[in-house]
Amino acid sequence: MEYIDLFFPEGFLWGSAAAAHQTEGGNHNNWSEWEKIPGKIKDGTNADVACDHYNRYEEDFDLAKELGHQVHRFSIEWSRIEPSFGKWDYTQIVHYKKVIESLVKRGIQPMVTLHHFTNPVWFAENGDWLNPESPELFGRYCRKIVQELSNYDVIWNTINEPMVVVTIGYLWGDFPPGHNDFGKAIQAAKHLLMAHGQASTQIREVYSEKGLDQPKIAPVLSTSYIMPENPEDPEDLELAEYIDNLYNHLWIESAITGRILNPMGDGQRYAPLENSVDFIGVNYYSRMVVSSKRDFMAGEIAPKDPYRVRCEGLEWEFYPEGYYHQIMDYWKKYQKPIFLTENGIGTSDDRIRQRYIISHLQQVHKAIQDGAKVDGYLVWSLTDNFEWAQGFSSHFGIIECDFDTLKRKPRESAFMLRKIIKDNGLVKETQETYLA
Ligand code: FCB
Repeated sequence: MEYIDLFFPEGFLWGSAAAAHQTEGGNHNNWSEWEKIPGKIKDGTNADVACDHYNRYEEDFDLAKELGHQVHRFSIEWSRIEPSFGKWDYTQIVHYKKVIESLVKRGIQPMVTLHHFTNPVWFAENGDWLNPESPELFGRYCRKIVQELSNYDVIWNTINEPMVVVTIGYLWGDFPPGHNDFGKAIQAAKHLLMAHGQASTQIREVYSEKGLDQPKIAPVLSTSYIMPENPEDPEDLELAEYIDNLYNHLWIESAITGRILNPMGDGQRYAPLENSVDFIGVNYYSRMVVSSKRDFMAGEIAPKDPYRVRCEGLEWEFYPEGYYHQIMDYWKKYQKPIFLTENGIGTSDDRIRQRYIISHLQQVHKAIQDGAKVDGYLVWSLTDNFEWAQGFSSHFGIIECDFDTLKRKPRESAFMLRKIIKDNGLVKETQETYLA
């Protein structure tokens, strides 16, 4: 195979992403409660200690710096900031200030996610995202955090992967709150949409009250290339289109148009959504093959291709072409800049991770060549961490974490990415070395 140098646009940003509950340890929230229920976490583990990133963030950011990262995406844990309704914990706010300062000190741009899957226990006990007041409750917390952190140069992510929260938590029942109900799923999607609107409104207001320049704001989507099992079967095609719209578009189209679209609403305007999306955060891992002969609503998807490499535990197939497809689809439909906020694979074989990253970056490059405005790429994840329902059995880190000693050790893929960052692209030699 003959490779050519693939350079990325000047100013393209590179780095890694992580989330509070998966790395920090010591959290008490709806997930820590869920982890206590036997059978919910595949390997029976919990995130009580996780990577102890709460105490070791300096060490982790030293590594990120050494590895050439320019951006680090992390989340703030709501349950630390507001452990009971209306009570703010200022020591935790100070903690996150220090986290941001330690990134800034190292020349790394902080990208801060306000919600990455977890909720305070009091919020979960009050109906979670089914509570009609949930968007405002989330907005209050956002206002508090933004008031405290707006003096730093931060890129804001409002909600991480709302449709994952909805699909896995409210439709398939494998994440908290564990519902299996389409009506509830749609209700939760609507409230998460409104919560995104509330968050961005609070951010805009606080910055303008303080006379600061408006920051960049984005929701972060999980996207999957939805394909029909039998492309010749009109029913499969119809289902794929339906799921693509429901999973990949309904929510973001509502956020961008400022209208709560069917089935979440009847297209009514929701003022807080106006001007709520500066760019779209896109997380891509794989494709999803659907069939009209299987019950998608009950979590049934088509069998996996036995010849494709899969992600440890989660069984996501290695399918880089879907990345190009999804980036182009969002770019053409919404014409908003895209930031690739997560991409990676869980594997104990780092050679698979190296191939995965390069193959996916080739697709990103192709999308940029074809006109998509893509501003950056973040690998998931900086270190191995607590992979939700998989526990510690899926290794996503470019840095290995030994969960007995908590020792960190960069993998070859971390050095490969450092070279990619330094070259601002995939030079011929990098592709030859890692795709050989
Ligand atoms: C995404 C989540 C992230 C991580 C990766 C593997 O859906 O945003 O927290 O678990 O998957």
